Amino acid sequence: MATRAFSIPVAEFVKSCTDLAQAPRPVLPEIAFVGRSNVGKSSLINSLLNRKGLALASATPGKTRLLNFFRIGERMFYFVDLPGYGYAKVSRSLQDEWAGFLEDYLADSENLALVILIVDVRRGLTELDHQMIQALNMYRRRFLVTATKVDKLTRKERDQQLAALRGPVLSLGAEALVPYSSMTHEGREDLWDKIMQFKS
Ligand code: GTP
Ligand code: MG
Repeated sequence: MATRAFSIPVAEFVKSCTDLAQAPRPVLPEIAFVGRSNVGKSSLINSLLNRKGLALASATPGKTRLLNFFRIGERMFYFVDLPGYGYAKVSRSLQDEWAGFLEDYLADSENLALVILIVDVRRGLTELDHQMIQALNMYRRRFLVTATKVDKLTRKERDQQLAALRGPVLSLGAEALVPYSSMTHEGREDLWDKIMQFKS
């Protein structure tokens, strides 16, 4: 099988912060990853960058608690790994605090160029994902949806899930729906193509 030449940019963790005032310099366009707690945001960042432990991934939900900035390429843009929503096992006040970081960031970042909303292909859009999409539309954020963990389904199940997701996702304003697996890296080139296409 012919493989297309594709080179993954260099990446480096820059810093974690709780609000935009602490965001790194220089200012660069930002591409943010959002989704339910434990859906696979950090794993997806690692897969995209082909770097195993760059973003901290964990079987325990609630691992990512801050805004984590990664510089991509020499000065191309930042990836921002955000706290997941809907993790019931932390206190209400902590959940509210994370939701607060997240919403302030989505509302206020002047450099946020694209949001990648990650959903579990097996589950599709949850109520909280719908709320997130509403917020993205309200703040006029460009976004695309990645349906991850496709390795957990048979070809037939996955095709059914993706067919059921595509219409709603696009009609809610997403630029694209991209199937993905952080385990096999399926979808990696396609997602990079979309990131490059929609980032500005
Ligand atoms: P929080 O930061 O806690 O919100 O979680 P997260 O969304 O960053 O999820 P994380 O990347 O930590 O992954 C959660 C779990 O799902 C880990 O056990 C991962 O190994 C697993 N996982 C993530 N992506 C995939 C995938 O594509 N396929 C499979 N099979 N497992 C995955
Ligand atoms: Mg995480």
